[in-house]
Amino acid sequence: MLIKKAPDIRWSEVTPERLYVNRREFIRASSGAALGALGALAGAAAAGPGVVTPAYAQDALANVRTSAFSTSEKLNSVEDITTYNNFYEFGTDKSDPARYSGRFKPKPWTIAVEGLVNKPGDYALEDFITPQALEERIYRLRCVEAWSMVIPWIGIPLGGVIRRFEPAPKAKFVEFTTVYRPSEMPGQRRPVLEWPYVEGLRLDEATHPLSILAVGLYGRTLLNQSGAPIRLVVPWKYGFKSIKSIVRLRFVEKPPPTSWSLQNSQEYGFYSNVNPEVDHPRWSQARERRIGEFLKRPTAMFNGYGDQVAGLYAGMDLHKYY
Ligand code: MTE
Repeated sequence: MLIKKAPDIRWSEVTPERLYVNRREFIRASSGAALGALGALAGAAAAGPGVVTPAYAQDALANVRTSAFSTSEKLNSVEDITTYNNFYEFGTDKSDPARYSGRFKPKPWTIAVEGLVNKPGDYALEDFITPQALEERIYRLRCVEAWSMVIPWIGIPLGGVIRRFEPAPKAKFVEFTTVYRPSEMPGQRRPVLEWPYVEGLRLDEATHPLSILAVGLYGRTLLNQSGAPIRLVVPWKYGFKSIKSIVRLRFVEKPPPTSWSLQNSQEYGFYSNVNPEVDHPRWSQARERRIGEFLKRPTAMFNGYGDQVAGLYAGMDLHKYY
């Protein structure tokens, strides 16, 4: 079993607050320096069964702008974010992504742009996103399983990326696909979901200023278990819309299939907007448990982003379009 040790920071030694302060100092100290981070998007430290990725071998991301869209709520710790999450390609338990993602290689990375678009092609990650446009977006994540976290993502607005490829007027939706690599992703060797994982957004949702493609969190490039090297974050929708390790964007006319509605269309619809008034058939969505807290809190419509996004759904019956 290979356990690669990061030379500088041991995860377990760094409290999130300290890391956060360090990152800000780092950014201040290196302002004006070229951002080599995307060229240096590194693989996570290798971990074997039972081993949580031991140290952060990722790169610090410099020259990151802060965003007015960020929430000022208390952040969840790095440990919470990177050791308790869903990434079924590595297993269905919340601790599986951290345990079993060590062999995944997120570098080099290519993203295919297909369908109703003027500039289709295969784009290297470094060409796909503009490092100069990186922003920190502190967002609430509300999982469909009624827990939530607050995560300091580093990413770029998806709308800007999409506009560069010039979708055709007929394109109304965008489909996202996760990489299919059963040799590196043990969960894909079992038929838990139809592989590869797919997701979709209406084009106006995808180009909404809140939708981002994330390449990092807590100031560093993503660990494998968080969706390295690039994943979606759509903060007003349940977490499962935020597809990880994306290899394809396809522009289409009709709503594309999505992994969870293929698996169970009664329980999961295309829109999947956070909505405390529409319960999941097997549990209530009225309240949520913020990871790290004991008492539950009420869930807000659109995860608290209603002022910005409610207009996208004007006139729609959100009980029907769940
Ligand atoms: N993307 C892929 N490819 N595979 C997955 O299993 N799980 C989803 C989503 N994206 C998933 C995925 C679910 S159910 C959730 S809640 C979020 O990722 C959790 O991601 P995060 O906590 O790492 O943000």
